[in-house]
Order: sequence, then structure tokens, then C-alpha cells
Amino acid sequence: MKAAVLEGYNKNGCDLVVKDIPVPAISGEEVLVKVHTAGVNPLDNMIIHGEVKLIVQYSFPLIMGNEFVGIIEKTGGTVRDFKVGDRVYGRMPLKNIGAFAEYVAVNQNAIAKVPEYLSDEEAACVPLTALTALQAFELMNPKKGETVFISGGTGSLGAMAIPVAKSFGLTVITNGNGESRDRVLKLGADRFIDYKKENYADILSNVDYVLDTLGDRELPNEFKILKDEGSLVSLRGLPNGEFAARSNMSLIKRCLFKIAGSKYDRMAGQKNQKYFFIFVHEDGAGLSRISEIFKGTPIEASVDEVFSLDDVNKALKKVASGGSKGKTVLRIS
Ligand SMILES: NC(=O)c1ccc[n+]([C@@H]2O[C@H](COP(=O)([O-])OP(=O)(O)OC[C@H]3O[C@@H](n4cnc5c(N)ncnc54)[C@H](OP(=O)(O)O)[C@@H]3O)[C@@H](O)[C@H]2O)c1
Repeated sequence: MKAAVLEGYNKNGCDLVVKDIPVPAISGEEVLVKVHTAGVNPLDNMIIHGEVKLIVQYSFPLIMGNEFVGIIEKTGGTVRDFKVGDRVYGRMPLKNIGAFAEYVAVNQNAIAKVPEYLSDEEAACVPLTALTALQAFELMNPKKGETVFISGGTGSLGAMAIPVAKSFGLTVITNGNGESRDRVLKLGADRFIDYKKENYADILSNVDYVLDTLGDRELPNEFKILKDEGSLVSLRGLPNGEFAARSNMSLIKRCLFKIAGSKYDRMAGQKNQKYFFIFVHEDGAGLSRISEIFKGTPIEASVDEVFSLDDVNKALKKVASGGSKGKTVLRIS
């Protein structure tokens, strides 16, 4: 089968090699999926650059790709909830990625059935970012009617985080690129702020939660608009001790991340706020919940641009270059 392979970390580039490798064998708990589409994420570039190696250490050669949509062709002996022919999607297990390939062998606990109305390209917008949003909102534990500010909501994360936030009954304020204003309001955002025209930190205050996608440069302002005792979940800041403990990391990593994230823990501490970092992990049950939410309230998925597997490096460059209007997708078969 064809697969896009990384031979070793590369600080600046995105030069995967598309090559022929054997179709993977499956274990009893796995299914073999013929991949139709795969989402391309900023995370793929971060992995290539070696930016997440303290969180997950990969060995090489590594088949890249964190999320896929496809059809099950084979099931392992203990697989009960899925059968050959099911159209499924999933965020690949953290330690066992590889969605940029014609086939993936993936654990049954990482996948869910795709809502029928979504095309393969639209479905590729869902797993990684919708699970990220779900995992963030589960940490916030919000009540209906509360308000969340999602920074940078005009990208692929916002396209899922906004409808997921609405399913929790939240009022959603987001900012981002003005060209995507109408699309983002259509997704369900209650208020949009064009980041090139207005500074949200001058006009917002006392929001109940912040979902941060921008990291260090924006975190001080995001804590400023957050109410006393409010919670901020960051996707781009530094991991802290709480993250390392929640992820069952070794004592060394707990100490390391405690030091790394202490700057943000201190910022949060000034107003008794809470700082969380997340690194989205596979979760088939969570994704099934997402599928149910999106069956009940159909979403308009935001597909930005579609590339072939052979053009994977162009797709990665597109994601790195900004100007995102949603998800960059690979059409594989
Ligand atoms: N920790 C995790 O598990 C996890 C999971 C998913 C995503 N993430 C992270 O979340 C971030 C967003 O992901 P994504 O897929 O949505 O990226 P994306 O598709 O590239 O979108 C980013 C969006 O943010 C906008 N933006 C840039 N600078 C901004 C600013 N100063 N203020 C407001 N908006 C701004 C961009 O607009 P322009 O067009 O103007 O640049 C773009 O619309 C990435 O850093 C990604 O690595 C982390």
C-alpha cells in the first residue's frame, strides 16, 4: 500500500516520502480500514518538527497522519461493535499514528461510525478537533447558559469546537480572521470578533471559560477576560504538572512539566482560576457521542482544500502557511 512516511524529525521542513509498504496486520482488538480521507492538522507539522517529543516519543520510519475516515475491510477476533463494510472514523492512538496511508490497523476503542449525511471529506474534519473540544469541555464541566471564549475559532478547531460548545448549551464568543465571520456565525457562534480590527481583551470580561488555541502570546489577555475561579483550557500553551499527572506520566516528566507550566499556573493563581493543558487522545466512545450530537443537530463541516496523498507535502505546507478556512484534507482512495 502507499503511505506517507517521516524518516526522522526535521526542524523546519515537511518532506514526507510517499512509498510502498506492506498492508498492516491486525490484532484481535483491531480493525483494518481502507482509508478514504485523512485530515491534515497543525499537529502533523508539530510532530515532524519534533515539537511534541516530550509528550509522545516516536520511532522512525513513522507513517504520519492523526485522523482518518474509511471502510472496515477486516475485523479482529474480539471486535463486536463493528463489522466489515462499516464506514468509520477516528483519531489514531497517540503512540500508533499512521492515517496518511491506504490502510490503517486501528484499535476498536479508537473508532466510531460516521453520521451518514457527512461526505468522506466532511467527516475528515471531525475526529481530532471534535474530540479536542469534547475533552476540553469535559475538563471545564460547564453549565448550560455559561459563556466560553474560543480564540482563533476560524480554523479547523473552531469549526468543531463551536458546534460542540453549543451542544453543551454554552454561549460562544470567538475571534479570528474576518473573512470567515459569516461561516463561523453560521456554525453557531453568538458573537464574532475580527482579530485584525478589534482586541477582544478590550471588550470582553468575566467570561466563564476560555478555550485557547493561540498559546503564550495570548494567554495573559485570555486570563484577563476570564472570571475569578474560571477555567482556561489551552491547546497551545505549555503542559503543566496537572497535565502530566492526568496523563499518568513518569515522575521525571511530572517534575519537568510542573516547571514548564508554572508560569501559567501562577497567572491562573492570581484570580483563583484554573489552567489546563490538553493533548487530544483517541477515544472511540467520545467520538460516538460526537456522532450522536451531530446526528441530532447536523453540522456544516468546513472543508478548506483537498489534496491527493502524493501531494501530502503541499497539504502540510498549506496548513503551516495560515489563512485556514477549516480543514485541509487528503483524498486517499
Ligand atoms: N493540544 C491539542 O490536542 C490540539 C488539538 C487540536 C488543535 N490544536 C492546536 O490548536 C491550534 C488551532 O488549530 P486549527 O486546526 O484550528 O488551526 P488552523 O486551522 O490553522 O486555524 C487557526 C485560525 O486562527 C486564526 N488566528 C491566527 N492568529 C490569530 C490571532 N492572533 N487571533 C485570533 N485568531 C487568530 C487564523 O486566522 P489567519 O487566517 O488570519 O491566520 C486561523 O483562522 C493549533 O495551534 C493546533 O496545534 C491542539
